Parts: sequence; C-alpha cells; structure tokens
Amino acid sequence: MANGLDDVVAADTVLSDVDGAGGHLTVRGHSLKELAGHWRYGQVVRLLFDGFFDELPGDAELERAIGSARVEVFDRLQPMLAEFVPLDIYSAMRAGMAMLPDGEELADALRLIAAPAVLTPALLRLGGGETPVAPDEKADHAGDMLRMLAGAASPALARALDTYLVTVCDHGLNASTFATRVVASTQAGLTSAILAGLGALKGPLHGGAPGPVIEMLDAIEASGDAAAWLRGEIARGERIMGFGHRIYRVRDPRADVLKAALRQLGSRKETSAGKMGSGKMDSRLAFAETVEQAALEVLRIAKPQRSIQTNVEFYTALLLEAAGFPKEAFSNVFAAGRVAGWIAHAREQQATGRLIRPQSRYVGPVPDLVA
Ligand code: COA
Repeated sequence: MANGLDDVVAADTVLSDVDGAGGHLTVRGHSLKELAGHWRYGQVVRLLFDGFFDELPGDAELERAIGSARVEVFDRLQPMLAEFVPLDIYSAMRAGMAMLPDGEELADALRLIAAPAVLTPALLRLGGGETPVAPDEKADHAGDMLRMLAGAASPALARALDTYLVTVCDHGLNASTFATRVVASTQAGLTSAILAGLGALKGPLHGGAPGPVIEMLDAIEASGDAAAWLRGEIARGERIMGFGHRIYRVRDPRADVLKAALRQLGSRKETSAGKMGSGKMDSRLAFAETVEQAALEVLRIAKPQRSIQTNVEFYTALLLEAAGFPKEAFSNVFAAGRVAGWIAHAREQQATGRLIRPQSRYVGPVPDLVA
C-alpha cells in the first residue's frame, strides 16, 4: 500500500477523467478545451448535475435558479457574516456555508453552488469596512461575483473568471473530492459532504497553493534573480508552488487554458474592473512566464528522477489577481468552481449506496494477552 493511495482506484465515475500521461482532462465526455472559454459555468453545472437530480431544468432556467440561490444565500447569511469576519477568509466562508440546510434536493445543491460566490465578496468587503453588495439574480454567475466584489465587472474579466470556474469544476478523485465522497457515502446531507471537501481543499498541497504563488512571484521580483531564488528554495527543502502534480507527468492542461485566458485578457484594451490595467497585466504575465521557465529548469536539474511540470495553480494565481481578488481569497474562488464537481460526486457516491470504509493495518504495540 502506498501512503498516499497512489494508483488506488476508489470509485467509478462518469464525471471526469484525468489522463496524467497524456495531459488531458475530460469532463462528462467533453475535453477541457471544448468547455473552457466556450461554456458558461451554469451550463457546466447542468452538465455535471445531469442525472443526479430529478427535474433538472434547461441551461437558461438553471442559470436563473443559480441567480435566485445567490439572492437567497445573501439574504439568509448576510446578517450573521460580521461574526465570521475575524476568521481567515476561507474559514469564514466555510462557517457561512455550514449554516446552510443539510438537504439532498436541487435547491440545497444550488445554495451550495451560490454560497462561495456570494460569501467571498461579502466577507472581503466587510473585512475592508465596506457594505456588501447584494447579488443580481439576472446576472451571470462569474460577472455577478465580480460585481459583488468591486461594484462593477468588465465583460472581459467576467469571461476570464467564468473560464476559470469552468476549468476547475471537476478533476477526478482529488483529495477534496475523495473527502466529499467519503462523507456522502454515509448518506449525510450535501452540506456535510461539501464541508469535508472544503476542509481538504484548504491545504497548500491542494487548493491552497495559488496564494503562495503570488508570494513567490513577489519575492522573486524583489530578489532580481529567479533561478538563484528558486535554487535556494529547493536547497532549503521547500516546494515550488504551482509546480508538480500527483497524476500529471506532463504539463497540466488547465495551466494552458488559464494562460490563454490571461493572454486574451491582456489583449483587451477595455478598462477592467479589477485593480490591474491591461498593460500591467501584460508585464505581470511576461514576468510569470520567465519565472515559470526558470522553475521548470531548476526543477529538472534538482529532481531529475521526477517530471515536475506547471500545475493549474500557477496561472490561477495570476488570473485571480487580475480579477481583483486578494491572494488570501484565491482558495475561496477555487471552491466556487469546484463545488459543482463535489456535489455531483456526492450524488454519484450516494447512488451506489455503499459506505466507504477501508481498513488500516495495525502497526502499534500488541497487548500482552497472557497477563
Ligand atoms: N517543488 C519541489 N519539489 C517537488 C515539487 C515542487 N513543487 N513537487 C514535487 N517535488 C519533489 C518532492 O520533493 C519529491 O522529491 P524527493 O523524491 O527528492 O523527496 C518528489 O518531487 C516527489 O514528491 P511527491 O510528494 O511524492 O510528489 P507528488 O506527486 O505526490 O506531489 C504535489 C504532488 C502537488 C503535492 C507536489 O507536487 C507539491 O507539493 N507541489 C507544490 C504545491 C502545489 O502546487 N500544489 C497544487 C497542486 S494542483
């Protein structure tokens, strides 16, 4: 048995497939490249939910229902958010989500889809001494998230954020999805299952990496020598954030999709609602590409036995920075995308009716049975 359950197949799924050798991600029969930048997040929610909820409406109706869920979550949770503001922004979001009903219906699922998108901007605004902006139920999900954050959203930024949410919607049996399925297998409600996923996503080896990517880029910019800085980190036994993956032995396909979305964003000259204009974004992206090349080279030399490539988190960090989110909230936005996959996996696991209950091998002291 490998400690990290490497190569252990623990579920059959129709939801997504990660081809680590070929560098492909399939979501319910569609390649990532077909979906990202072409499908809206609401459409992908429908794709993932199909067959797992009775009476699932069509795309347009479902997107409207997600909008109504945003309003409902805001009205329900906004009065208690001030209490959560002293927590870190991820824990505060999780505390808010824990207040949602623990049901099994589509309405429960839609509240969970809405919650990270509503709570993150509201908590950020409250933390900064500003009044939360209420959701607009008619707006598209990503655009409304940015509007709640900054009061306005440029179409280009909304499109980039939508591409991000679609890109991270599901990804095989990653740690948070597995945690979600374990809880769902006990037939606990959807909120309980999603809270397990949220807990797992928080760690820096999983969804907590993009914040440290920004810290790394800033430190490298200040040092003036990317390769020397990166070599120093490796020598200290540190990991380079945004690189390496348990499954991908080639470049993570999500990194390319997000890089393309950033390029498209940089090429748009319209004023963004984020803090970064397109010129600054272009130079930030060019700098990040230099760091990426230096990191790949340093890792190739330092870890020749392992193919360590760029993962999703590297360009996630840049995209969410451009969208105007502070680095502390990057994992919240990851959760806003991944929650759709978690819910679908929870339903898929519950439908098997089988409790997940593996065994451990006892390696502790043996009692003296003679005495
Ligand atoms: N930087 C430096 N070394 C790395 C590394 C990284 N980002 N990722 C893996 N390695 C090294 C390990 O130190 C180890 O080296 P060793 O054999 O000399 O001890 C070797 O590669 C294998 O590490 P292991 O932990 O078994 O690899 P893994 O495939 O299970 O790790 C991650 C996957 C994601 C946990 C790992 O790549 C990582 O920590 N990356 C940085 C965090 C990150 O970006 N997370 C987001 C993932 S989407």
